[in-house]
Amino acid sequence: MYKILKAEKLNEIVYLMEVEAPMVAKHCEPGQFIIVKLDDAGERIPLTICDYDREAGTVTIVFQPIGASTEKFAKLQAKDAFEDFVGPLGCPSEFVHEDLEELKKEKILFVAGGVGTAPVYPQVKWLHEHGIDADVIVGAKTKDLIILEKEMEAVAGNLYITTDDGSYGRSGMVTKVIDDLVAEGKKYTRCVAIGPMIMMKFCCLTTKKYEIPTIVSMNPIMVDGTGMCGACRVIVGGEVKFACVDGPEFDGHLIDWDLAMKRQQMYKTEEGRALLKERE
Ligand code: FES
Repeated sequence: MYKILKAEKLNEIVYLMEVEAPMVAKHCEPGQFIIVKLDDAGERIPLTICDYDREAGTVTIVFQPIGASTEKFAKLQAKDAFEDFVGPLGCPSEFVHEDLEELKKEKILFVAGGVGTAPVYPQVKWLHEHGIDADVIVGAKTKDLIILEKEMEAVAGNLYITTDDGSYGRSGMVTKVIDDLVAEGKKYTRCVAIGPMIMMKFCCLTTKKYEIPTIVSMNPIMVDGTGMCGACRVIVGGEVKFACVDGPEFDGHLIDWDLAMKRQQMYKTEEGRALLKERE
């Protein structure tokens, strides 16, 4: 069993948990994810890793309840436990294994949308710990939906907050901030965008205009998390890839967004869920 050491509500819809999982904490890297199961009858839910402490043996997850299982997760308290906490799964972010000296010459921009701020945080933190301060745009619908602001501020080079309704920070979509920063003369060599699929799609259209290579983290429905079931299939550069083993990060300029969004819609229906159950 994997004990929950801390359970916190970050806002009306987003929850944070610190879980005792020493083996995952020891081996995980930014960009990876875990699959969590509450009990025998529970669904397997993929969640990105928001933070980890190798010495304390803990992993921090952040989630937004969107179905029966995550609704149950939201009710858990410290001292409750998950039956399964499998990981780390997927590939680490590409920069983790790149030449640090080359990386230091780059100017990296992260774009985080809503709960997507959680998987962006460990990446920006990792870079900061390796002497690279990246710029970060965090966007949300309203002020109340901004999460991890203080944590991000501590590790980002410059932090730009924007809200759709203008209730906090700049006003407007994250893509507008990208446009503004480029217009101000910022020259980014790569961008990492993580958030709702529609946000990542439009970030990619924007960065393509400026020829900024862009990585996105795909979060399609997953079943086994081992590349066997095909549920997390995405088309990247005309090739079939599985987000759980080939990703979750891919070149955003090569993703077939229309297909990815169609598949996401399909699995939101009850039929889609039933289909996945049959495959389990
Ligand atoms: Fe990726 Fe099954 S979840 S192939």
